[in-house]
Amino acid sequence: MAQAVLASPSVGKSLVVKEYPPTMSIKELVEKGLSSVPENYGASTQDRPPLSQPLKEDWETPVIDISHLQGPGRKQTVDQIARACQEWGFFHVVNHGVPEAVVEDMWQAYDMLFALPPHERAKFDEGPPDILKKLSQNKEKMQMLANWRDTMRFRELNPDDEGAIPHAPQFFRKPACEFYRALRNVGLELLEAISESLGMEAGYIHNVTGSNLAINTSIHHYSPCPDPLVTIGLNPHTDIDTLTVLLQDETGGLQILKEDRWVDVKPLPDSLVVNVGEALQVISNKRYKSVLHRVNTNTERARSSISCFLLPTPESVIGPLAHLINEENPAVYTNVTFENLFYNYFAQIIE
Ligand code: OGA
Ligand code: NI
Repeated sequence: MAQAVLASPSVGKSLVVKEYPPTMSIKELVEKGLSSVPENYGASTQDRPPLSQPLKEDWETPVIDISHLQGPGRKQTVDQIARACQEWGFFHVVNHGVPEAVVEDMWQAYDMLFALPPHERAKFDEGPPDILKKLSQNKEKMQMLANWRDTMRFRELNPDDEGAIPHAPQFFRKPACEFYRALRNVGLELLEAISESLGMEAGYIHNVTGSNLAINTSIHHYSPCPDPLVTIGLNPHTDIDTLTVLLQDETGGLQILKEDRWVDVKPLPDSLVVNVGEALQVISNKRYKSVLHRVNTNTERARSSISCFLLPTPESVIGPLAHLINEENPAVYTNVTFENLFYNYFAQIIE
């Protein structure tokens, strides 16, 4: 969740999109040896501008060593983070302190989760919020392509809570809570640095967003696709949170839109991918960019990713920092509760 699907300016004509009943799992279909995208599923190939756009191959998303946030290198690292948020909206963090074993245990739990039959998985998948479901019913209007992936979602998950995700299987709960706690804490550490970069004290963004310790998560499995040109892993969208911290495997496929070109967010071993969400874009009065991103599929190998969305509480009031508003930079947003920001954001897309 925490994502809206936007028609990117570079997405052209509307495509015909039909979907299997949601009980169908792409993973199992592909494992059964599907050799082409079923006719009633894929979008037409007549126009697929996003893939036909030239990629910026020499552009690389920034890589930031955040171990330097502790110690004399803090100021310099805060500046690096600020630049990355401003110029890219996406960056990799390395030396983030999440223990390898925590990541490995999570991947193991991930594999076990997706080894379950689809109807078993569906029992504890919390799914997207209603407004997102409504959005996906408007796929044709939205110029969205059919998604070639399976996703599990958990919402308002406080990983400090021993009893979190009570409906999920036992094998998943402990490694997941440890993993999400670690990713959330990386996110909170980054929000401190980002607060400082905006001239505020470290705790500012966390406090103003309701000191929320719960996160949302999407656990994606992108199967290989017999014809990646007629479907997409994940449609172009921005995230509606403050910050997303994501673990991706080595496959690749994640891209961001920069200056109207799609740029790869290349897999980088032992790194996490971080991106600015809409709420942070609002707080920074658009200094920090919430950028469109998407995931392409390929014919060869599956891709896995796990995201951790840091969210304001629904009642917290989100608005641009007063000192960032001046004659040169007028306020781009007014103050609204996150609940309204969230709703308005999706409503404006659906309209
Ligand atoms: C998301 C997202 C990217 C990925 O879940 O919002 O953008 O790499 N995921 O799966
Ligand atoms: Ni996203």
